[in-house]
Amino acid sequence: MQAIVLNQAGGVDQLTYQAVEMPVPEAGELLVKVKAFGINPMDFVVRSDEQTLTAFLGTQRPAILGWDVAGEVAGIGPEVSGFELGDAVFALSNGRAYAEYVTVSAAVSVYKPASVSYTEAAGVPVAAITAWQALVKIGHIKPGDRVLIQAGAGGVGHFAIQLAKHFGAYVATTASAKNHDFVRSLGADQVIDYTQDVFEQVLQEVDLVLDTLGGEIRERSLAILKPGGTLVTIIPPLSEELVDKAQQQGIQLTLLIGQSSTEDMQSLANLLATGALKAHVSTVYSFDQIAQAHQAIESKRTVGKIVVEIP
Ligand SMILES: NC(=O)c1ccc[n+]([C@@H]2O[C@H](COP(=O)([O-])OP(=O)(O)OC[C@H]3O[C@@H](n4cnc5c(N)ncnc54)[C@H](OP(=O)(O)O)[C@@H]3O)[C@@H](O)[C@H]2O)c1
Repeated sequence: MQAIVLNQAGGVDQLTYQAVEMPVPEAGELLVKVKAFGINPMDFVVRSDEQTLTAFLGTQRPAILGWDVAGEVAGIGPEVSGFELGDAVFALSNGRAYAEYVTVSAAVSVYKPASVSYTEAAGVPVAAITAWQALVKIGHIKPGDRVLIQAGAGGVGHFAIQLAKHFGAYVATTASAKNHDFVRSLGADQVIDYTQDVFEQVLQEVDLVLDTLGGEIRERSLAILKPGGTLVTIIPPLSEELVDKAQQQGIQLTLLIGQSSTEDMQSLANLLATGALKAHVSTVYSFDQIAQAHQAIESKRTVGKIVVEIP
C-alpha cells in the first residue's frame, strides 16, 4: 500500500510517499481502509522534531503520522466483536493514518453516522474529544454558565463553541474579524476581536475558560474568572507560578491532554447524527498534497478543520 512516511523528523520535505507493507490487525484491532484523515497541529509538531517523533511513534523508521481517521472496515483481528467488513467507522488512532490502510483498536472505533461524510468524520476525533473532555469532563458545563472559548475559529474552538451552546451556556469567543461570521454561525453569543479588543476589558464573571493558546493569553484569562471558576488549558506545560496564582484566586486550573475514549467518541457521534454538532472542513487536500496541508496547519490560521482525502 502507499503511505506518507517520515524517515526522519524535519520540514515538510521529509514527508515522502512510499510503498509499505499492509498492516495486519492484531487481537482487538480493525484494519481500516482510510477514506480521509484529519490534520492537527500535533502533526507538524511531531513531524518537526526527532525526540517528539520518537515519543509519539517510537524509534521505528519510516514512521507514519496521522491520528484522526475515517474509513471502511477492511479486516477484523481476533477477539473483535460488533464490527463487520464494510462498516463505516471513525476513530482516534495511535498514529499511522497517513496511509491507504491503518490498524485501529476496535475499542476506540465507532460507527460513522450515515448523515456525516468520511471527510467530515475525519475532522472530528482529536479536536472534538479535546473540546468535549475540557467542557464536559473537567468543566462540568451546565445551562447558564458563562464560558470563554479562546480561538473559536480553530479545530478545537469550533467544536467547543457548538458543544457549549448545546449544553446551554452563554458563549464568548475570540477570533479575528475575518472569522466573526463563522463563529457566530456556530452559536457564539459574544465575539471578541482579539486584534482590536482586550478580552478582559469586555468580558467578566466567567465560569469556565477553555484556553487553546497558552502563554500570556492563558495568564490573562485568570482575571475574568469568578472565584470557584475553571480554567482548562490544552497547552503544556504549566508553570508553578500560574498554578500558584490560580490557587490564590480560588480557580480550578487543569491541563488537559485529550485521551482516546469510546464513550466520548460515541457521545460525539450521537451529536453528529442529530446535527447538533458539525465538523466544518474548510479545506480538503488530496493525498498528494500533504506538504500543503502541513504548511496550512503550521500557519495557525486554518478555519475549523482541514482534511486529506484518499480516493
Ligand atoms: N492538549 C491536547 O490534548 C490538545 C488537543 C488538540 C489541540 N491541542 C493544541 O491546542 C491548540 C489549538 O489546536 P487547534 O486544532 O484548535 O488549532 P488550529 O485549528 O490550528 O487553530 C487555528 C485557529 O486559531 C485562531 N487563532 C490563532 N491565534 C489566535 C489568537 N491569538 N486569538 C484567537 N484566535 C487565534 C485562528 O483564528 P484567527 O485567524 O481568527 O486568528 C485559527 O482559526 C494547538 O496548539 C494544539 O496543538 C492540544
